[in-house]
Amino acid sequence: MSAPEPKNFDPKTPVSLNPPKDDPISLEELATADGSDPNKVWVAIKGVVFDVSGNKSYLPGGSYNVFAGKDASRGLAKSSVKQEDAVPQWNDLGPKEKQVLEDWFTFFSKRYNVLGKVPQYANL
Ligand code: HEM
Repeated sequence: MSAPEPKNFDPKTPVSLNPPKDDPISLEELATADGSDPNKVWVAIKGVVFDVSGNKSYLPGGSYNVFAGKDASRGLAKSSVKQEDAVPQWNDLGPKEKQVLEDWFTFFSKRYNVLGKVPQYANL
């Protein structure tokens, strides 16, 4: 029996990503990317906006639609898909939850293009 390997969150099949962008994105624009247009579906983590278009999980009726068009850092950190947790505040959470959020950030970074950031959500 071997010890469990640390997770690196690499996708099963390689994903080729664009260089991350650093453009400012407004709250209003993020909110439009909620899955009502399947070609524009975004999820932000700690203010960084990922393009999750193409993943049905984020479309209406999908398991993770609650995160679409939002910075859902808190929900990711708490492993919660409740509406009330789909908010950007994460700084008051405990170290384990902060680590879970960091792991999700890594997971998304390895799969989705970074389109820019919502400055107001950068450090909540
Ligand atoms: C019964 C409980 C759950 C089951 C069975 C489940 C199952 C899954 C499965 C099978 C995947 C796909 C994994 C992959 O692509 O390798 C996934 C992805 C994911 N799950 Fe869950 N999940 C559950 C609960 C949750 C909860 C509570 C959250 C809240 C944070 C969550 C957040 C996510 C996210 C963000 C993804 C990534 C989707 C992506 O590829 O972008 N899941 N889940």
